[in-house]
Amino acid sequence: MRGARQVVAAVLAVVLVPLLLGTAEAAGIERVKKAGVLRVGSDITYPPFEFMEAGKPAGFDVEVAQEIAKALGVKLEYVNTAWDGIFAALKAGKFDMLLSGITITEERMKSFDLVFSEPYFESGQGVAVRVGDRRIRRQADLAGKVVGVQINTTGQAAAEKVKGVKEIKKYEQLPEAYLDLKARRLDAVVADYPVIVANAKEDGKFTPVRGLQIGEPERLGIPVRREEADLLAVVNKVVRDLKQSGRYAQMKQKWFGEK
Ligand code: ARG
Repeated sequence: MRGARQVVAAVLAVVLVPLLLGTAEAAGIERVKKAGVLRVGSDITYPPFEFMEAGKPAGFDVEVAQEIAKALGVKLEYVNTAWDGIFAALKAGKFDMLLSGITITEERMKSFDLVFSEPYFESGQGVAVRVGDRRIRRQADLAGKVVGVQINTTGQAAAEKVKGVKEIKKYEQLPEAYLDLKARRLDAVVADYPVIVANAKEDGKFTPVRGLQIGEPERLGIPVRREEADLLAVVNKVVRDLKQSGRYAQMKQKWFGEK
């Protein structure tokens, strides 16, 4: 009797436990496949990563999201959401993942119980000024200046570390900061350098301060809820495949005009 019970216990331990763990480990992938749709949250006001074009989301991140949905065999819903609150929205289950030009930070992982994919893009904070304005060449030149940032971005964090800045104005969306820069209500805008470069090319009235980077280099990643970390296996494979096939370089050329 006792022997039989021990055998049952052993079978349970050896067979059932890994099975249960196995399903737990595939929690995100299974849930998304069952739903038949990948819900990606994004602040779609951040060209060339994501913006609205003819009523539809377009941009670098949107193409990456399409590939992830394809790899999962589901359709893509690329959902606009406010940047401020985007991580809380993911944590609350409004989305399966976020693609929004997001910098990987420890603080975000801890505060919102997230895990990030491997980096899919290199970035860093740059400075935009009006064309013809030569007052700002290096970081110290921001002293006494009014600087615009998108709220709760790494751009805001970087600007806050610069000594002597007169005022930091926080905007819900980056394009609003550019408007104030052009209207002379700001002396500079701090945001992701590659984004400023692309935006400046489009706009023509402002320009990045060439070679000026504020703070540390940054890496962009794709966050998911910690309990659905299994989704990152799919995400990381998609990014690796895009890089290996040469598609990634084409996409970078297409959206950022560089390789
Ligand atoms: N890379 C910066 C950050 O993670 C800015 C991202 C802003 N993205 C956006 N879609 N508005 O803080």
